[in-house]
Amino acid sequence: MSNFNEERVLSVHHWTDSLFSFRTTRDPSFRFRNGEFTMIGLKGEGAKPLLRAYSVVSANYEEELEFFSIKVANGPLTSKLQHLKVGDPIVVSRKATGTLVLDNLMPGRNLYLLGTGTGLAPFLAIIKDPETYERFEKVVLVHGCRHVQELAYGETITETLPNHELIGEMVRDQLVYYPTVTREPFRNRGRITDLMTSGKLFSDIGLPMMTREADRFMLCGSPDMIRDTRDLLAGADYVEGNHGEAGHYVIEKAFVEK
Ligand code: A2P
Repeated sequence: MSNFNEERVLSVHHWTDSLFSFRTTRDPSFRFRNGEFTMIGLKGEGAKPLLRAYSVVSANYEEELEFFSIKVANGPLTSKLQHLKVGDPIVVSRKATGTLVLDNLMPGRNLYLLGTGTGLAPFLAIIKDPETYERFEKVVLVHGCRHVQELAYGETITETLPNHELIGEMVRDQLVYYPTVTREPFRNRGRITDLMTSGKLFSDIGLPMMTREADRFMLCGSPDMIRDTRDLLAGADYVEGNHGEAGHYVIEKAFVEK
């Protein structure tokens, strides 16, 4: 049996010149945990499809799959992927994996989901998971971008999810959304790392300064963002979690195509 399913594109949404999302059919046998990624791609002329790792944006109880991608003019995959049309075939691995899953975190009071750019993707599945709200009192989704326009999914988070049949009430009571922008005026400004160090993030959302006892973190972004945020946490004796060993924080590099 092949390791891949062939799915069909159901819709495509372009956020900006460099960001888009698309939904596909989902083979019912494809199982994943919220926060995981899978390999997706297109069949080329060669025998092997061109594949890249993508976090699944849709929750694991949804019937369709959703992905969030950058567009790179010369990127081997995204230069083609950005032209996807409804009905096009797309290859999706039968397996999903990744470290950004609830089981890799020790119990705590608040869960901070820190994403930059397309690093938001895995957190969209996590904030749709009822278990997230059962395990944590507050779930703080921080999305850092250069420009306001890149704050994709803002309306989904602030308008659609609070009215969601399954998780609406939990979202209304427990989810805090904190978008922040670095290169133009916006109500929240600055890098996630700086906002944590200065304490501004915590005072803005009305929560106490972070502590190892109360707070857990998931990080997803560029290698630089991951490095600096990890240094900040590790420097304060937070322990990184992994499969088999839960910690105070877990990390995953966001998909980037050069
Ligand atoms: P900045 O504009 O100051 O570089 P990118 O598109 O480069 O991945 O950046 C997405 C967001 O992540 C931007 O707001 C960017 O801020 C921020 N960022 C980039 N590098 C880091 C880092 N090392 N630590 C924290 N935030 C970062």
